[in-house]
This record gives sequence, structure tokens and C-alpha cells, in this order.
Amino acid sequence: MSIPSFGLGTFRLTGQAVIDSVKSALELGYRVIDTAQIYQNEADVGQAIAESGVPRSELFITTKIWVENYAADKLVPSLRDSLKKLRTDYVDLLLIHWPAPGNGVELAEYMQALAEARKLGLTRQIGVSNFNIELTRQAIAVVGKGEIATNQIELSPYLQNTKLTAFLKEQGITVTSYMTLAYGKVLKDPVLAEIANKHKATVAQVALAWALQLGYAVIPSSTKRENLASNLLARDLRLDDEDMARIAKLERNGREVSPEGLAPIWD
Ligand SMILES: NC(=O)c1ccc[n+]([C@@H]2O[C@H](COP(=O)([O-])OP(=O)(O)OC[C@H]3O[C@@H](n4cnc5c(N)ncnc54)[C@H](OP(=O)(O)O)[C@@H]3O)[C@@H](O)[C@H]2O)c1
Repeated sequence: MSIPSFGLGTFRLTGQAVIDSVKSALELGYRVIDTAQIYQNEADVGQAIAESGVPRSELFITTKIWVENYAADKLVPSLRDSLKKLRTDYVDLLLIHWPAPGNGVELAEYMQALAEARKLGLTRQIGVSNFNIELTRQAIAVVGKGEIATNQIELSPYLQNTKLTAFLKEQGITVTSYMTLAYGKVLKDPVLAEIANKHKATVAQVALAWALQLGYAVIPSSTKRENLASNLLARDLRLDDEDMARIAKLERNGREVSPEGLAPIWD
């Protein structure tokens, strides 16, 4: 199992905005695209990929099952619908979007349905998103150790999630950091700005390089070609130990996303 370290996020983007973002990203060399049923942009993403001419075999596509499709009789049919929109026979990674405790479908039921989707060849890998330690443990108990490729979680210099990431590392589960830029908030940070100046880099590159150096996968989104291009260069930036230590101190439990009814009790 492996999760590519650098991808493109598509949350909040629909219609021409997402088509342009995905096409620009693919032209610039991105090959990993993160979407979700709830983003309502799978068909646009599918169109952008088709128009880009990039062969499917070069791409790594992730989608996420929305909570209304968690029941055993709904998950696979909803995935087939997503695949039709994405114009592909399989996704590379399929995630449960939120644990949604109390939503009426037990974790064991949706994790089994997720595993079934993989058996059917509709996804190469499976994973979870927004799971805390306890729920990740439960998910592992259902599908087996080594079967969960990633836990995609909110993680930025302002929300470093150290307990959960330590647990995931111990379990061999790749951390995917979403909102690594805290939806733009960390871009105004003075410490990150100093580190960026030192390396003649951008603040966004510093935040992304920090996450990459900790071994996390990142999926920043942008509507701007120049940001898409410069973000990708974060892969070439090497932060030193002092930079990493200064960023570690920026932790402030800065959570941006915690929808009631969907989110677990955070660690
Ligand atoms: N699993 C989940 O529950 C979950 C939840 C949230 C997000 N996600 C995934 O994670 C992805 C990333 O999160 P996100 O899109 O919410 O937030 P993000 O990547 O932290 O930030 C995106 C914002 O930062 C700006 N930006 C990006 N690069 C920039 C740069 N170099 N300089 C200045 N501004 C820059 C973008 O504006 P411009 O367009 O102006 O560049 C956009 O407003 C999502 O797209 C989605 O795929 C998953």
C-alpha cells in the first residue's frame, strides 16, 4: 500500500472553477486528485481529467463516501455512481468521509462495505477520514491490520494532532493532512514568514514542506495556477531542525472543521 505524498484538493470548488484547477494542476505535473461525493464536483473532475488527456494509469484518484451512503446496500451502488461521474472503472483510494457516530449505520457495517468495494475492484485501497484513535482502532478490528491505507485528517501548523499521528505511525497508517494551510490562516503567521524568508520560499511552501518532512501526505487546493505551481515546489524545500522545532511550537488546537453529528470526540 502506498499513498502519494502530494496531491490536489478540490473541496469547495465546482463547475468551471474545479475544471480549471484540475486541468492546470495536471498540466503542471500533479497526478493525485482528492474529491468526495459531497463536494458535488466528481463529474467536473471527471470532465477535467478526460479533457487533460493524461492517461488514467498515471493518476491517483481519491473519493470519499458521504454519510447517507454508508448502509451496506448503498455504499457500493453510490461508488459506482461516483465512478461513472469520474469516468473511470476504479478509484485508487476510497475513504469513509466522517465517522458520523449515531448516524444509524454501525462502523462495522460501513467498514465491511468499504472492504467489499475493494474486493470488487472498484477501489485499489481503502481508508478513513476524520477518525480519532478509538474509531481507527475499531476500523482496524473490522477490516484487519494493514488494510487501512490512510486516515485523512485536519492537520496544519496550528493543529498538529500529535497523539493521533503517533498512533497512526505505530499502526503503519499514512497520515494525510487536509487543510495544511488552515484554509489560508497559517499564511499570515510571522514565524512561518521568517522561515520562508530564510529559505527564499513562500509561507505556503514552508507549511507544506513541514508536513511532508513529518511523513504526511498533503492535498492543498488552489484556484490559481501560480499557487498550484509554487505549492508543488514545496517538495524541494528542506527545512532544518531549528525550523521544524519552531513550527512545532505553533500548535494552538486551531481546528477549523468539526461538524456536529459527523465528528468524533477528538483526541
Ligand atoms: N476529509 C475531509 O473531511 C476534508 C475536509 C476539508 C478538506 N479536505 C480536502 O483537503 C483539501 C485541502 O483543504 P482546503 O482546500 O480546505 O484548504 P487548504 O488547502 O488549507 O487551503 C486552500 C486555500 O488556501 C489558498 N492557497 C492555496 N495555496 C496558496 C498559496 N500558495 N498562496 C496563497 N494562498 C494559497 C487557496 O486560495 P486560492 O484559491 O486563492 O489559491 C484556498 O483559499 C480540500 O480541497 C479537500 O480535498 C478534506
